Amino acid sequence: MEWLWWRDGVLYQIYPRSFMDASGDGVGDLEGIRRRLDHLAWLGVDGIWISPCFPSPMADFGYDVADYRDIDPLFGSLEDFDRLVRDAHAHGIRVVLDLVPNHSSDRHPWFLESRADPASPKRDWYVWRDPKPGGAPPNNWISIFGGPAWEWDEPTGQYFLHSFLKEQPDLNWRNPELVREMHGVLRFWFERGVDGFRIDVIQRIAKDPALRDNPEIADSPGGYGGQRHVHDENHPDVHGMLRGLRAVADEYPERMLVGEVYLRDPAEVAKYYGQGDQLHLAFNFALLFTPWDAQRFGAEIQAWDSLVPAEGWPVHVLSNHDAPRHASRWDDPEHGEARARLAAMLLLTLRGTPFLYYGEEIGMRNVEIPRERLQDPLAHTLHPSVARDPERTPMQWDASAGSGFTRAPPWLPLARDAALRNVERQRAERSSLLWLYRDLIALRRRTPALQRGSFRRLESPDGVLAYERRAGASVARIALNFTPEAQRVELGAEPLAGGLRSAYGTPLPAAPEPVELAPSEGIVLVVAASR
Ligand code: NOJ
Repeated sequence: MEWLWWRDGVLYQIYPRSFMDASGDGVGDLEGIRRRLDHLAWLGVDGIWISPCFPSPMADFGYDVADYRDIDPLFGSLEDFDRLVRDAHAHGIRVVLDLVPNHSSDRHPWFLESRADPASPKRDWYVWRDPKPGGAPPNNWISIFGGPAWEWDEPTGQYFLHSFLKEQPDLNWRNPELVREMHGVLRFWFERGVDGFRIDVIQRIAKDPALRDNPEIADSPGGYGGQRHVHDENHPDVHGMLRGLRAVADEYPERMLVGEVYLRDPAEVAKYYGQGDQLHLAFNFALLFTPWDAQRFGAEIQAWDSLVPAEGWPVHVLSNHDAPRHASRWDDPEHGEARARLAAMLLLTLRGTPFLYYGEEIGMRNVEIPRERLQDPLAHTLHPSVARDPERTPMQWDASAGSGFTRAPPWLPLARDAALRNVERQRAERSSLLWLYRDLIALRRRTPALQRGSFRRLESPDGVLAYERRAGASVARIALNFTPEAQRVELGAEPLAGGLRSAYGTPLPAAPEPVELAPSEGIVLVVAASR
């Protein structure tokens, strides 16, 4: 089968506020991304997903869209966007945008019209309901960002629904006009050369049409976690809505939809692939919550691998803009660096498309942000401890004052170790984490088994995760030592064609039997084709 960018390539998430500031205002922008394409091409990534860059009051930093067909001036203009797409494509890098279909900004002209006039056709583009007798909200639904999911609108005497902030009113996907409009949004960007969309909280666009109460969980502390979310998301009708979006993507060649399906049950997530007629890729977030334990990783990966339908293709992610960075989650005073290297080896050798999060290639950690500098609305609506700013700090490019990110005071503080941990420094050091990412990506690219091969776990000692990837005559075996002790693993006796050790210290064995792994070390062995 021919090479397909979103299935066989490696993708990279950019949080545009924090990648590169070309305009000099302390906030990243599209021109900044364009100027850093060389880094991405050198690393070997095949596509970038840019978190929302559309006009927005930034109540949720772009996940509150006020115009789906333009670029926020903070990030540049449509011309900047076109230039970025053109240059990215010239580098062989595809561009994925972030579609936020569940809600708009409360400043979107649609909502302004909807709110102002109950008789307007736009009223039904959102979810408006009368209060219960006595004035209470229509049901017991709770916002993911805290408090009731209903906001009272005094002038029109109704409540509107918001799954997130009250500044993010939910759109009504049961209204055909709204659906038509959203399909038009996809086409607008596809026509401009966009290669795909990451779709925000797609499981939420379909709710119970009768808006029934969610069952409460007995003896729970209440709040969002105190309910079973059976009526406010994942209604079966979501699959028909997705088929509609997919049909639009299929009007254009090689376009891709990757969904954020934020559901805890992986069997439910797998349904979002449909029969090859819904999402191309559905994020599985299990590894964001997996503790550093070989058995747990093995179980999660295997479970997901067997759930993804034959027409589908898995996708793996260790970090994103909503979760603590994995180098921090799995950090350890002695083994932290080695673990970050092992995690890279895992992500880039699994069966499924890897999504990197900007900065993970240099091992960026979460940055502690002083309370008064926290920006994330969650710091106020929920609690400062759940603010997502620590994983959204500026990219560390070099040792200069603004770390090569900006000439101005940055919108979030830089990491204190930015002068030591940065791209420039790691590029100069052949054994750095950055080079390991590059080497792994290159190895994946030239090894069919790593790109497209099947996944099968291998026998291994406790604390070691071992697996084989196989595509025809191409075979790779991987062993990852999660323990702080040396381990010995049997990986077969065939002659080798190459591979990599995560620690770069010792040379590869000539024949693989048995392999000695240093503490927290991993190895990929590519078996020589036997023909
Ligand atoms: C998921 C996004 O990833 C997150 O950043 C955002 O706050 C919510 N959806 C609401 O759009």
